[in-house]
Amino acid sequence: DSEDDLVSRPPVITIMGHVDHGKTSLLDAIRDAKVVSGEAGGITQHIGAYQVTTDEGVTLSFLDTPGHAAFTSMRSRGAQVTDIVVLVVAADDSVMPQTVEAINHAKAAGVPMIVAINKIDRPAADPNKVRAELLQHEVIVEQMSGEVQDVEVSAITGQGLDELLEAIALQAEILELNANPKRSAQGAVIEAQLDVGRGPVATVLVQNGTLRQGDIFVVGEQFGKVRALINDKGDRVKEAGPSVPVEVLGLNGTPEAGDVLNVVETEAQAREIAEYREQV
Ligand code: GTP
Ligand code: NA
Ligand code: MG
Repeated sequence: DSEDDLVSRPPVITIMGHVDHGKTSLLDAIRDAKVVSGEAGGITQHIGAYQVTTDEGVTLSFLDTPGHAAFTSMRSRGAQVTDIVVLVVAADDSVMPQTVEAINHAKAAGVPMIVAINKIDRPAADPNKVRAELLQHEVIVEQMSGEVQDVEVSAITGQGLDELLEAIALQAEILELNANPKRSAQGAVIEAQLDVGRGPVATVLVQNGTLRQGDIFVVGEQFGKVRALINDKGDRVKEAGPSVPVEVLGLNGTPEAGDVLNVVETEAQAREIAEYREQV
């Protein structure tokens, strides 16, 4: 890439944490707070990723809790999609086994963490207990004089949500994330399924380059030609740039989460690569 072609791209954030600590609630609360109410009806729930823009004009791409298994399988497939992990810990339940797993995943992947101490509205909330227990797992939050940002939040009351988004934006700034939208696209499959009406459909996070309608691609052991791209609001779009999640139609088969998508020149090439991969 010529340096001139590099532009900053939005960070991709994955929410992780123990079961029922409020990952989905937090994602819903962020989206609801940042999406104009008139638009809300157009937001589809089926696409497992969305973008929001903060009040300061910073765009963030959130992945809807792919779950630890998916995160691990994506990593083992070489798809490092996450720039920042938001570790959700319920203030009334503190650090639990899957919290520790999430910490280990983030550390192994070398991805910076931000701690969201959720359910702060609950009477039994004890954020200092959370901080002390995190310390035992070598996660030293700012309140304990460490470097990991921690924010007290409530997905129910909305407390701390703006602060959390600011913390994410700050972390993203430190990471200086770049991509080249002029390249042919490379992306990662977040989820995929066989849709009765539409055939195989994959939600793809574009990581570099720009994916366009008509592009020929290979994705894992599958290939195809982009028939349509649908954004997180359910609208048809002609193209998707770096860090943008889109639904891709036009696959010959259903890929797996974590498969890497690459745009190639010809359909013969795409078929050849896919068939080769199927054999090995
Ligand atoms: P899994 O995906 O099943 O692991 O759960 P999750 O982490 O996505 O948690 P979810 O968002 O489903 O929330 C679990 C329960 O906690 C729900 O009943 C939520 O309403 C509740 N909850 C989530 N966040 C908060 C919060 O900030 N305050 C309170 N009081 N309840 C919350
Ligand atoms: Na739940
Ligand atoms: Mg959930």
